[in-house]
Amino acid sequence: MRIDIVTIFPEFFSVLDVSLLGKARQAGRIHLGVHDLRDYTYDRHRTVDDTPYGGGAGMVMRPEPWGEAIDSILYAGEARGVADPVVLFPSPAGELFTQALARELSVEPALVFGCGRYEGIDQRVVDYAASRARVRLVSLGDYVLNGGEVAAMAMIEAIGRLIPGVIGNPASLLEESHEDGLLEYPSYTKPAEWRGLAVPPVLLSGNHAAIAAWRREQQIERTRRVRPDLLSSE
Ligand code: ADE
Repeated sequence: MRIDIVTIFPEFFSVLDVSLLGKARQAGRIHLGVHDLRDYTYDRHRTVDDTPYGGGAGMVMRPEPWGEAIDSILYAGEARGVADPVVLFPSPAGELFTQALARELSVEPALVFGCGRYEGIDQRVVDYAASRARVRLVSLGDYVLNGGEVAAMAMIEAIGRLIPGVIGNPASLLEESHEDGLLEYPSYTKPAEWRGLAVPPVLLSGNHAAIAAWRREQQIERTRRVRPDLLSSE
């Protein structure tokens, strides 16, 4: 998968050199391009923002550098033969980023993340991008971050680990929270008793059917307790 990121803080993404995603990059499973939005400005101050039309607090990102950056990435993609990327704009005004969306995006050959700062990006950037590619505004949750960088990073990790070969044991992907619409069951390892706390005896029983039934019950009970919204949306 090819992932391009447009940001005014390219250094944010140096953490993608480490851990599983770093390994996936070294193995050639993920190709990353981080682009500094200011490299697409033409003025001496490398300006990327301005005051909002209609007034209001804060600054809005100007469209021109974004247009140049998007054109350049789409052009390079076409030259490489990876046309038709999905362009994602992290935004608290977007659709919710879920495990289902991560899975859907993990089979795409190319993604572009446009990380906005300040009070957002001029809407025409999104409209223009939508005229050239599949565009989605995606939110990590109902809270506000300072910009799209941390959100993009979270999404890249969630998507990247679903790419075949990135996680050593693909079976571990099937049993985790959100894969079947429920939260994960609690896990235990050795020792069987620690500081007076015992592992639930069923897990030591060797009875696989009983273990599976217990884990399912735990999933349902935990989901009902902390995330009843997940059950009611079915
Ligand atoms: N940018 C600012 N807040 C965000 C959020 N909650 N999700 C995605 N991008 C954001």
